[in-house]
Amino acid sequence: MGFKEKKSPKILGGVGVSFKGKATLIQGCDFGTEPYLVEIGDRVRVNNGVRFVTHDGGAWVVRNMYPELKDVDLVGRISVGDNVHIGTGAMIMPGVSIGNNCIIGCGSIVTHSVPDNSVVAGIPARRIESIADYISKHSEAFIHTKNLSPEEKKRYLQESLKNYEYKR
Ligand SMILES: CC(C)(COP(=O)(O)OP(=O)(O)OC[C@H]1O[C@@H](n2cnc3c(N)ncnc32)[C@H](O)[C@@H]1OP(=O)(O)O)[C@@H](O)C(=O)NCCC(=O)NCCS
Repeated sequence: MGFKEKKSPKILGGVGVSFKGKATLIQGCDFGTEPYLVEIGDRVRVNNGVRFVTHDGGAWVVRNMYPELKDVDLVGRISVGDNVHIGTGAMIMPGVSIGNNCIIGCGSIVTHSVPDNSVVAGIPARRIESIADYISKHSEAFIHTKNLSPEEKKRYLQESLKNYEYKR
């Protein structure tokens, strides 16, 4: 199983999530009660507080109303493609497939499948732009700091960017 656990060694302990490649799971993500219905692609980052919901708890109400439905469940697989970032606190609902090269905004509730190369955000999550749009929008603001050490990055951000402002 190719995953890179970050901060939480407990997170995957025997829960049955299927990993196609390398994934980084940040502390506090929750694979729900049917984790074996979740498939995660290659180079996927699941951020803090993300929840995969694989069943609809609404079945509880139906079960209590109709004897012939007293044992029903409503469940759905969740799949995540390759090269996906799932932002802090997002919730992925049953039956959703997220395509390749996608960004899921912080706090989103994803109720519909997400096409490849999309940025989605909000409640319910809507496609706000393509990945190409996201890149061109931020082309002036991207900084090349990812491979610096934490100390180098701190120095760079404190010293070199005194006049830099990323405004929104
Ligand atoms: C989704 C995201 C990638 C969009 O970034 P962006 O391209 O810079 O988008 P903008 O901020 O220009 O927002 C575009 C629109 O989407 C809305 N939007 C952006 N992020 C949103 C979110 N998480 N939830 C709801 N709406 C959101 C904005 O309000 C804006 O709406 P408007 O046009 O009506 O004003 C970014 O907001 C996000 O959530 N990134 C993930 C952050 C994260 O996980 N951080 C942890 C780092 S490890």
